[in-house]
Amino acid sequence: MRFDFLTIFPGMVSAFLAEGVVARAIEKGLISVHVVNIRDFAGDPHRTTDDRPYGGGDGMVMKPEPIYGALRSVGREGGRSQVILLSPQGERFDQAMAWDLARYDQLIFLCGRYEGIDERVRLLCADREVSIGDYVLSGGELAAAVVTDAVARLIPGVLGGTRSNLEDTFEGGLLEYPHYTRPEVFMGHRVPAVLLSGNHEKIRRWRRTESLRRTMKRRPDLLERAHLTREDEEILAALRGRGEVRAE
Ligand code: ADE
Repeated sequence: MRFDFLTIFPGMVSAFLAEGVVARAIEKGLISVHVVNIRDFAGDPHRTTDDRPYGGGDGMVMKPEPIYGALRSVGREGGRSQVILLSPQGERFDQAMAWDLARYDQLIFLCGRYEGIDERVRLLCADREVSIGDYVLSGGELAAAVVTDAVARLIPGVLGGTRSNLEDTFEGGLLEYPHYTRPEVFMGHRVPAVLLSGNHEKIRRWRRTESLRRTMKRRPDLLERAHLTREDEEILAALRGRGEVRAE
């Protein structure tokens, strides 16, 4: 899968690509990432990419021509591609959208800056507009990095086979259970005995219980949408019975 970043701050993106899961995926040839400097497509000697807004007001707006030129310079992988404008006004990114985007052969990110981007870019160039949350960043670069990370780890082979992403928080609609490693006692806090028992069935049930308990306490909204088994309902009823989580 190929990811293209169109940005006026290529260094921000390169730093993110240098280490971690995404860097290893690039090394293994599972993904490729290309960074395009929008400034290279500005038509003047000052390499201007922004201008004052029509109608007046504070701030600058990103000009359409350099972005359009940068987009046209991006090679298409032939298969299915999506041009994604990162903006706080977009559709909210979540795990379901990450899976949806992972089906494409190429994602092209338009990283906006300043007060905004000329509306015609949105209209003419973007297949979709994506927000990573209800807050305003200084630009789309970090948001594009977040989307890339979440999508890349869904590509077969990227997580290295030792760790499945299927048990991750949000997969299956619940928050993940807590994890422990050595030492057995840390600052007076013991690892739960069941995890040392070697009883796989008990461990499985304990993890499911903790997952449900956590989701109920922290994100009851997720629980309402999750696919719950009969066992899950029993566990929740028991938790509610013990007054551990609030009854509906
Ligand atoms: N650009 C600025 N804020 C953003 C956000 N919340 N999500 C995506 N892109 C952005």
